[in-house]
Amino acid sequence: MPLDLRLDNMFIDGHGLDRKDLDELARDRFSAVHESVRRQRAAGRFGFFELPDGGEVVDSIAQFAEGAGQAFENVVVLGIGGSALGAISLRSALLGSSWNELSSEEREWYPKLYVIDNVDPDTLGPFLKRLDLTRTLFNVVSKSGSTAETAAQFLVVRAMLENELGDGYRRHLVFTTDPESGVLRSIADDEGIVSLPVPTNVGGRFSVLSAVGLLPAALVGVDIATLLAGARDMRERCETPELNANPAGLLAAALYLADTRRNCHVHVMMPYSDRLRDSAFWFRQLWAESLGKRSGDDGRISVGPTPVAAVGATDQHSQLQLYAAGPYDKVIIFLIVQQSEEELEIPEAPSGYASISYLSGHTLGELLRTEAEATQEALTRAGRPNLAIDFPRLSARELGEYFMLWEIATVYAGELYGVDPLDQPGVELSKQLVREKLSESR
Ligand code: PA5
Repeated sequence: MPLDLRLDNMFIDGHGLDRKDLDELARDRFSAVHESVRRQRAAGRFGFFELPDGGEVVDSIAQFAEGAGQAFENVVVLGIGGSALGAISLRSALLGSSWNELSSEEREWYPKLYVIDNVDPDTLGPFLKRLDLTRTLFNVVSKSGSTAETAAQFLVVRAMLENELGDGYRRHLVFTTDPESGVLRSIADDEGIVSLPVPTNVGGRFSVLSAVGLLPAALVGVDIATLLAGARDMRERCETPELNANPAGLLAAALYLADTRRNCHVHVMMPYSDRLRDSAFWFRQLWAESLGKRSGDDGRISVGPTPVAAVGATDQHSQLQLYAAGPYDKVIIFLIVQQSEEELEIPEAPSGYASISYLSGHTLGELLRTEAEATQEALTRAGRPNLAIDFPRLSARELGEYFMLWEIATVYAGELYGVDPLDQPGVELSKQLVREKLSESR
C-alpha cells in the first residue's frame, strides 16, 4: 500500500483553507506549474527525478558495499547539510536507534554507522579517540568538495589515518563528490582514493537517492533497490497535471496557500514515530533552504515558510500547548506509521491502579496511534489546520516514496512562490566571511 495523504483537516472553519482557493489553483495554475517543472526536468535541471532509475552507479554502490561493507566494523560519514541529513534519516528510519549498540552478530556483520555533521571538537574529538581506525571506513561526502566543515573533518581524519596506517590510509577512505570538479575529485584522482559520483545536476538536499544516501545505506544492508522502487512509484503518481490526483502537487499547493492566504507561515512536521524523527529534520532543510528566498522581479519580496521539526507523542508535552492555543500561524504535518516493526503489550494494571487501568489490554503502538488521532482531532477542534501522511509501515519502500514526495513538492512549491528551489545564495556571505577571517588570522 502506498503512502496516503489526508488533507481534510486543512479545510476547517476559521483558519483553514478555503476549498475555493485550492480549486482555483488546481484550475488556473497547477497545470502551468506542472508543465514548467516537466520542462525543466526534461532540460536536465532537476536531476533528482532520474535517480530512482538507478543505473551504473547503483551497481558500483552495490559492488563496493558487498566488498567493503562487511570488512569494516564502522562506517563514518563525514558531511553536512544535504550531504548528511539523508544518511541520518535513512539510518534512523530503517535501522532504528540502537543499531550501533547491537552485537556484530545481531547486525549480521554489517558495520555500525555514524554520521558526523558538525565540527564541534567536543563531539569529534572524543568520538575519534575511541574509534578503532584500523576497522573504520570514512565516507567523505561533499558535492562541491570545498565545504569548510567537511574539508576540516577530512583533514583531521586523513592525518590520523596516515599517522596510524601509513600509505594504507587510502583504503579507509571513499569519497562521494562531483564527477568532474572540486578538490575531493582531484584528491581522489591524485591519491587513488575510491570515489562515487553525485550527478552534476543533483544538489545536496535533493541527493539522498544518489550515492550520497545510497552508499551508507547499502553498506549497512538497506535494500536500496526497494528504496528506489518506492521513489519510482511516487514519481509516477506525481506525473499527472491533475492537482487532485497528484500527491506532491496537493502538498505543495495546500502548504503554499496556508502560508500565503491564511498566514500559516510555520510548517511543523510531527512524526508519531521515533524512527521518522530525523526524516522531519531532512524535510526541514529541504523546505527551508529551497523556499526561503527573495522573490519578485527586483528580488525585494522575501518569501518562504518556516519548517519546524517536532515528534509525537513526546512534544505533546512540550510544544502542543503552543500549537493548539498560540498564534494561528501554523500547519501541523502529521506522519503516522500504521504498523510498527515491534509491538509491546501494556500489562494488566494491578488492583489499586484504577486511574491508569484504561491503558491495559492495549499495545504501545495503539497508544501512540491513538495519541496521533486525538491530537489531530484536538487541533482541528481548536481551528488549527493540519494534514497527515500515513505510512502503512516503515520500510525502504515507504521511505523512498516519502523522499520523492517531498522533493517533487518542493520544486512545485518553488514555482508557486516564484523562487529557484535549487540555489542558496543566502548562505554564501557567511561562508565567505569564514574564509576571510581564517585566512587573515593564520
Ligand atoms: O542542500 C545543499 O545544497 C546544501 O545544504 C549542501 O548539501 C551543504 O552545504 C553541503 O554541501 P557540499 O555537499 O557541497 O559539501
